[in-house]
Amino acid sequence: MKKPILSLSSLSQKYVMALAGIFLMLFLVSHLATNILMLRGDDGEAFRGAVRFLTENPFIKIMEYVLFAGFLIHIMLGVILQIQNTRARPVKYHTRLKTETSTFSRYMFHTGVIIFIFLVIHLVNFFFVRLGWVPIPEVAEGDRYEFYEMARELFQNPWYSAIYLISFVFLGFHLKHAFQSAFQSLGLNHNKYTPAIKTIGTIYALVISIGFASIPVYFLFFH
Ligand code: HEM
Repeated sequence: MKKPILSLSSLSQKYVMALAGIFLMLFLVSHLATNILMLRGDDGEAFRGAVRFLTENPFIKIMEYVLFAGFLIHIMLGVILQIQNTRARPVKYHTRLKTETSTFSRYMFHTGVIIFIFLVIHLVNFFFVRLGWVPIPEVAEGDRYEFYEMARELFQNPWYSAIYLISFVFLGFHLKHAFQSAFQSLGLNHNKYTPAIKTIGTIYALVISIGFASIPVYFLFFH
């Protein structure tokens, strides 16, 4: 038997990964709640107010570090799990093929890689502008917090809108599985509740992916 890559048991790896995943899922809810304000038809007034509140709030500043730690832990453990599953495959390939774990590890890793690539592009588009790592686009007139105008310009480019929309489809699939498998990893699955958890997971994944997708669609077609 091969040694685990980290000195964590595979069970505790899954546990930590599920906790980080749940935190990231909560982040997505709050991120969507802020960004959806772009659709209010008030030329970004309410959205700018929310951005001002968030960037001036010391709690949010701390949470930004927690968020990146969450992403890092989640990604690192995801990669380690994938490597371990691949290593284990020659021995148990036939029995593993039809299991939930197999589906989880195969598709979760691939959709996760796509989300990671999306995230890099996305951070370059917005967050790195705020940090001063990427020049402020002309449309923002020297204001690194002018995310509304940045978003409008970005999404009026069909290529960027397409990249975002395709990524949100994969995000939806990732979240649908993530939701139920997080409960499973935490040992909270029970025959009685599993169907309800699956349904809530599907609703969550749909709300998040359709919610985010509505932003590029709005700027591309209706604004
Ligand atoms: C159309 C959809 C989206 C829009 C318009 C959007 C908009 C933004 C904006 C304006 C920022 C900069 C905020 C700041 O620096 O204060 C930001 C940052 C960020 N976004 Fe998004 N976002 C979208 C989707 C997503 C998705 C799906 C994810 C995760 C999979 C994500 C993850 C992040 C992260 C990690 C940051 C950096 C941390 C932060 O500033 O909150 N975003 N986004």
